[in-house]
Amino acid sequence: MDIAQLRQEYMRERLDESAVAHDPFTQFRAWFDEAVKGGLPMVNAMTLATVSSTGQPSARMVLLKGFDARGFVFYTDYQSRKARELAANPHAALLLYWIELEREVRIEGRVEKTTDAESNDYFASRPLGSRLAAIASSQSEVLSDRSVLEARYADVEKRYGQSATRPSNWGGYRVVPEAIEFWQGRPNRLHDRLLYENTGGGAWKIVRLAP
Ligand SMILES: Cc1cc2nc3c(=O)[nH]c(=O)nc-3n(C[C@H](O)[C@H](O)[C@H](O)COP(=O)(O)O)c2cc1C
Repeated sequence: MDIAQLRQEYMRERLDESAVAHDPFTQFRAWFDEAVKGGLPMVNAMTLATVSSTGQPSARMVLLKGFDARGFVFYTDYQSRKARELAANPHAALLLYWIELEREVRIEGRVEKTTDAESNDYFASRPLGSRLAAIASSQSEVLSDRSVLEARYADVEKRYGQSATRPSNWGGYRVVPEAIEFWQGRPNRLHDRLLYENTGGGAWKIVRLAP
């Protein structure tokens, strides 16, 4: 198979200035709801990119767990690699790609921690196994082998049982956007790209970018 010959035409929809919402959160809601209604798998999976203090970017998948006009929330370990990078450089990019809808959303902004109350509420809503795993695992740490992790999990299960409350090193981040781009694939690679830029005071400017 020749990878260079893999091609896809984008035919489904268009994205017009006249038809989009004035603020990107309403527009994101519309696209997100369409993705959910369409039964797309893991609609809330997104790539999170961070940059280390030395300028080295890194990316990984996380799950979007909430969004509103304040920003986009995900949860993780506050001592993980991403958390260490965010502590040194509290700026991040998020990327969502809904292949079936030929749509991409790019979000860039500064990052802040969610409140303890928000993190507690979300942690408490997770299945017991996930809560125990969050306590047992020091995310991004080197493990000599898998048995170490399994032993830690078994130990945590014994000690905490049903009462696994949120450890202080686990919680949420909110990406407060400065810019959000909506990309809709179009025929002949003449894609639609509308970029919302935060101009302050809750106002947004929309510009069209060349594909
Ligand atoms: C679909 C998918 C969703 C994921 N969601 C999360 C998440 O919400 N939070 C998280 O900490 N890790 C999540 N992960 C694991 C991360 O991709 C990553 O392995 C982990 O956060 C450690 O990253 P780091 O070492 O760069 O901090 C997910 C992985 C996949 C494939």
